[in-house]
Formats: sequence, structure tokens, C-alpha cells
Amino acid sequence: MLSAAFNVNGMLWRTSPAATELETVVMDWLRQLLGLPEGLFGVIQDTASASSLVALAAAREAVPGLDARQRGLVGQARLRAYASEQAHSSIEKAAIVLGVGQEGFRKIPVDDEFRMDAAALDHAIAEDRAAGWTPFAAVATVGTTSTTSVDPVPAIADICERQGLWLHVDAAYGGSAAILPECRHVLEGCERADSLVMNPHKWLFVPIDLSAFYTRRPEVVRAAFSLVPDYLRTPEDGLAPNLMDYGVSLGRRFRALKLWMVLRAFGREGIVERLREHLRLARLFREWVEADPHFEIMAPTPLSVVCFRALFPDHDDEGHDRLNDEVVEAVNATGEVFLSPTKLRGRTALRLAVGNIRTEERHVRRAWELLSEAAAARRP
Ligand SMILES: Cc1ncc(COP(=O)(O)O)c(C=O)c1O
Repeated sequence: MLSAAFNVNGMLWRTSPAATELETVVMDWLRQLLGLPEGLFGVIQDTASASSLVALAAAREAVPGLDARQRGLVGQARLRAYASEQAHSSIEKAAIVLGVGQEGFRKIPVDDEFRMDAAALDHAIAEDRAAGWTPFAAVATVGTTSTTSVDPVPAIADICERQGLWLHVDAAYGGSAAILPECRHVLEGCERADSLVMNPHKWLFVPIDLSAFYTRRPEVVRAAFSLVPDYLRTPEDGLAPNLMDYGVSLGRRFRALKLWMVLRAFGREGIVERLREHLRLARLFREWVEADPHFEIMAPTPLSVVCFRALFPDHDDEGHDRLNDEVVEAVNATGEVFLSPTKLRGRTALRLAVGNIRTEERHVRRAWELLSEAAAARRP
């Protein structure tokens, strides 16, 4: 409410020094909480989709001799970016927006735990180079949307270094886990990434929207985006950051205040306590599913999302898909809980995601009751 009511526009340092300064401060606090290296440049974007678009635009800017900013892409080398087949659609969308195109985006297969197969990435890059493509970026996901799987970032970083690709990490949801000492490993290798996004509006209790974008190479991001007409020049140029230089939009809301509020209100301990409880609730739900012969688990549960489905005797895969779709619709129609399904290896999986600051054990228990009832109603 305050952030909206102050009606600050932080496009330039001069238009709201406080908004820019506070953004710098809170992004550094968050960096420390996540255990990311000192010296990373952080800037707030509206969404992870925008952050990943900025990352891939910077990756394109970094391709030697391309100068897409000046010359566009027509008649130029054909660029290719890579992410796992479980990566969020925002990565492919960024490729579309940047003129790389869907053909310039290659999906890399995953292993049986839905993590990118790093050897397959290496192979794809070599194959594409031989076929005349210019590989330029790879995106690793820490906490995929469907199952929260974590790609092997250290191995992907090795490949990117060797092959000269920009490494972007999409930790939009999963990054928050690194605040817990016992989960710090989820960001292992990310200190080598050229850029990384994590979303405090996903699993860090900040009201939407607020996406934290970090980069080791702010000068490349700036080279991709900075365009300063006469009416935006100020005496502070070159002395203080103008955050409009690090993304698409000129006008910028006072989002930093929302993150400041959450960090100050809960502190590290308060955040750790709540995230840990979410992980406990997810494990608890998983135990209920595992113990019930009428349900089965569909994927590992590294973080706070459980993928599962109800089982129906005498039904084939299509029958299971149809009935599980019905179950989730029936449960959602109660208005008490809301789950969204996904497809895993072609089959419908239901997802119970714990991440809201108000979610308690009684809510998870109620979700399980509703699911059990809806599934039982569809068995003979
Ligand atoms: C891994 C991942 N990346 C990116 C996104 C997109 O986030 P946003 O809505 O902030 O663009 C999501 C949303 O579900 C996600 O799970």
C-alpha cells in the first residue's frame, strides 16, 4: 500500500534517490541471504519473465561481432539458446521476443529426476556449431515449475565456460531455499553464472510483483539496454546508477520498499523458520501420499511442491489423466484450496505447492481430505 501510495518513479536516480538507494541496499541484503558472492550487481524487475528476457538480451549483446543492437539479426549468424525441457516457458518466450525465434531455442532432455542432462547439453552445442548455429546462452533452472528439480549448475557452468556461452540461472522459485543453511547447496555453482533471477514474490512473501535480477556483468546489460535521450540526461549520469539502464521499462515503481518491509519484518531467522516449516509441510503431505495405496508420487520432492496422482483400478493412462483432471477440478471448485496440475512424462500429475505465508498444517491436511474424498468418489 505504501509503495503504491508514495507513487514514486525510480527511473533515474534523480527522480527518486531514495528508491534507487534502497533498491541497491535491499538487493545486497538479499544477495547476502542467498549466499551469493559479493560484488554482484542487483536490480529489481517486475517478473522473472522480464529478468530472463534481460539476461538473454545481455547474452546476445555479448556475442562477439554480432552487434544486434545496431544491426538487428537479419542476415546475421543464427543464434541458439538452451534450457532443459522442464524450463519455464518464459525462456522460450524471451527467445521469441529477442528475434532468436523458437528455432533458435533448443530444449535439452532431462534425467529421471527431471534435471537437465548436462552431457546432452554439451553434445547439442557441439552438434549445433557443426551445423552452422552460433550457440550463445544456456539457462539452468533451480527449482523447475512442474517438480522443483534443480539442474546440475556446476556441470552446466563448466560447459558454458568451455564453450563461451552466457549462463543464466532461473532460480525464480527455488532460490529462496538457499536462505536455509541446510538447502544452501541448491545454488551451488551459481556464483559462476553470468546472471541469475530469483523472485521474492514467489516464495519470499513479497506481494506480487518483485523479481530480483543479479549479474556479474552489469556493463553488458547496460550496453544492451541503455538509451538516453536529451530529456533523460541528468548531472548525476555516470556518478549514480540510473536503473532504467538495466531493463526494458523507463518508469519504475518503488518495489524495493516491499522487499525492505519483508526483510525488516521477519529478519533472517523469521524467514528461515517459515521456509523450513513449508518444507516440513511438503514432506508431511508426501508421507501421506506415500502411505496411501490409492495415490502415488510422481516426482522427487526437493523443495516445497509435491507431485502425485490418484490411482484408479482398471483404468489405463488416459483414464488416469481424465480422472485426475476431474479430481483437481472438483477440489478447486470447493474454493477451499487451489492446485494446478501439470504433465510429467506425458501423464497428468497434481501439484500441492506450499509457499504462502499463511499456509499452516491444517490447510495442508484439509487439502489432503478434499483430494482423498474427490478421488474416492470416482472409484467403484
Ligand atoms: C521457474 C520459473 N521461472 C519463471 C517463472 C515466471 O515467473 P514470473 O511470473 O515472475 O514471470 C516461473 C513461474 O511459475 C517459474 O516457476
